[in-house]
Amino acid sequence: MTKPVLRVQDLAVTFTSFTGGLLQRHERKLRAVDGISFELHAGETLGVVGESGSGKSTLARAILGLITPGRGRVMWRGEELTGLEEEELRQKRKELQIVFQDPVASLDPRMTAGDIISEPLWTFYPNMARLQVEERTRGMMKVVGLLPNQINRYPHEFSGGQCQRIGIARSLVLNPRLLVCDEPVSALDVSIQAQIINLLQDLQKKLGLALIFIAHDLSVVRHISDRVMVMYMGQAMEVSEKLSLYRRPLHPYTNALMKSVPIPDPRLAAAARQDSWLTGDMPSPYNRPKGCIFHNRCPYRVKRCEADVPALRRMENGDWVAGHRAEELDLSI
Ligand SMILES: Nc1ncnc2c1ncn2[C@@H]1O[C@H](COP(=O)(O)OP(=O)(O)OP(=O)(O)O)[C@@H](O)[C@H]1O
Ligand code: SF4
Ligand SMILES: [Mg+2]
Repeated sequence: MTKPVLRVQDLAVTFTSFTGGLLQRHERKLRAVDGISFELHAGETLGVVGESGSGKSTLARAILGLITPGRGRVMWRGEELTGLEEEELRQKRKELQIVFQDPVASLDPRMTAGDIISEPLWTFYPNMARLQVEERTRGMMKVVGLLPNQINRYPHEFSGGQCQRIGIARSLVLNPRLLVCDEPVSALDVSIQAQIINLLQDLQKKLGLALIFIAHDLSVVRHISDRVMVMYMGQAMEVSEKLSLYRRPLHPYTNALMKSVPIPDPRLAAAARQDSWLTGDMPSPYNRPKGCIFHNRCPYRVKRCEADVPALRRMENGDWVAGHRAEELDLSI
């Protein structure tokens, strides 16, 4: 087995804010990412799923060095990224790229598609010949399914799906080895989503990229992922191989997410809600439940769950789960 290209060890990010007036200032700490560990190989896709606020984007930004983690390490091809000087980290960013959620909002409306895609080339290779930059830009447009003769068009002249293709071309123009896609399809029509997911999967195979694909719901990452990490309140509840996860989730939260997949038909959606396992809202991040962090919403909780924190542990089949009752519960779909 080859070595993983990315090793994330016990990564944690805490945001601090203050409430009250000058005389009664209270410090509040929000654990957005709380001890995440995983490994990723070249050519492999890790899906990351969880409700809004579970820490997915913060995790992505901490991995890429866009925010400084309070704890833990990010090892990229054997080298520790956490603690690198700004300039060293900037150089590494050639290899580590991100695709954002809202393609239209993330593109500068005053720049042409060609300018947007080629900007990273000018930043990292300011002496590159203009002709070479243009050739590479047109080449990237082809790779992502755009017409090279659209190079001088502006974002508003493209559809949402095409804008996301521009975003993907921009993130690939430096030949990265890791691509983090933070909800790359959630702002797109359902009919377009599959096209973009297929494109990313094709590109990943062709280029041997390590891919982290973030989404709200499990159905979106199913096709593209090799493994899936399910996050809740900054922690990993389960990290499982795709086949076992979709056949028999280990964690009640994974099971609940599967059962609460959005259903377009309102009548069917209402019926499904009655049968929903995901009751109540996520607790306030400032008031984290003791014991198992999911216990106040878990239909399987027992006394022990309210006091003992379940560690993320490896099951016999190699999957990981943070739950006391994983062996005895059969959550087969
Ligand atoms: N810059 C920040 N300052 C303070 N709190 C933040 C900051 N960024 C995120 N948070 C908080 O950290 C938690 C995790 O947020 P994050 O954006 O990582 O979640 P997410 O899983 O990506 O959610 P979504 O699915 O809505 O994108 C949330 O409670 C959020 O309010
Ligand atoms: S540890 Fe207990 S509360 Fe937490 S998921 Fe497992 S059964 Fe539910
Ligand atoms: Mg997010």
